[in-house]
Amino acid sequence: MQAIVLVGGEGTRLRPLTYGTPKPMVPIMGVPFLARTMERLSEAGIRDVILPAGYMPEAIRQYFGDGSQLGMKITYVIEETPLGTAGALKNVEQHITGPFFVLNGDILTSLDLRAMVAEHERKGGIGLLHLIRVEDPSAFGCVVHDESGRISAFVEKPPRETAPTNEINAGTYLFKREILDMIPAGRNVSIERETFPEVIASGKGLYAYTTDDYWIDLGRPEQYLSAHVDILTGRMPMLETGRVSGDGAKALEGIADLNLPIHADAGVTVDPTAVIGPNVVLGTGVTIGPRATVRNSVLWDGVRIEEEASVEGSIIASDVVVGAGAKVPVGGVIGHDAVIEPGTVLGPDARIGATQPIQR
Ligand code: GTP
Repeated sequence: MQAIVLVGGEGTRLRPLTYGTPKPMVPIMGVPFLARTMERLSEAGIRDVILPAGYMPEAIRQYFGDGSQLGMKITYVIEETPLGTAGALKNVEQHITGPFFVLNGDILTSLDLRAMVAEHERKGGIGLLHLIRVEDPSAFGCVVHDESGRISAFVEKPPRETAPTNEINAGTYLFKREILDMIPAGRNVSIERETFPEVIASGKGLYAYTTDDYWIDLGRPEQYLSAHVDILTGRMPMLETGRVSGDGAKALEGIADLNLPIHADAGVTVDPTAVIGPNVVLGTGVTIGPRATVRNSVLWDGVRIEEEASVEGSIIASDVVVGAGAKVPVGGVIGHDAVIEPGTVLGPDARIGATQPIQR
């Protein structure tokens, strides 16, 4: 079995983070998100992976190479211009030899891929879509199906009151190769808006696979932070949960005002008078000065928080300096290498950093 992981999006909603790091390489608990996805694929026995990329592809290639270090085979196919979520599949057609998975590159889920293969074999049809139930489907693509699981309609972002169902497209698909015959070549094609409706109309059978798995789309800053809280508190099953985890845990010994859960990577230095946690992730080499406060936030590698500065409910990208006494209140997204001058008080939901892609 092969898998295509869609990694070509610009990640506009995560800017300015995605001006320095393409979305698939944004760290989750200190590790590029795509590395987690690769691990999941490998665990499910899927080691032949195709990456249709286009936005900052070198950052991805540099990290994974040809995949041999992971015991996988990775093929990169670079799009000159974005081809959309179905156009990207058509563009890698020559590499596909049989049934294949398609994964949106920004979904964190506990979905069991092997169980999905078994379900596809049971239900048949040209494809199987993973669905999950959400409380408010108005921000998602709703999927309507009958009792047998056969899908009859897609309703994009319906108003909450009129939504036909609370089951949404969760961004993992399993297809027979012939679905590629239904996608036009050489132009931008959306799988949600164009291909799925056509497949339904063709009668070839598109089926739903609804599970109660943990699921979150990491595409927005709030969701990115929520995902970390869910991992730290054990709601999303992952290795590091519910305690001071990570290679830098020792650096947090002796801090009086420490509120779990916290994850700290190697080389972290925290002054014992700092106030840390809950729900904090400290990347490799992070430094936190005297009487500084960091709560409900994710700090990437090399961040420096100087004395009496505070960071709350924010994402701080690599090598940022928050100067002495500066304040980053809830909702801040601070891009790579930014310097918040000492004493600066930002407003809520601040966006500070580059305004176009940067090479680091
Ligand atoms: P936003 O700009 O914030 O909407 O993010 P995005 O560009 O990543 O778009 P979206 O979240 O809708 O994309 C879902 C998945 O499809 C992500 O994994 C994207 O990387 C991927 N994707 C979106 N458009 C393209 C494309 O044109 N080509 C390829 N190869 N992948 C794409």
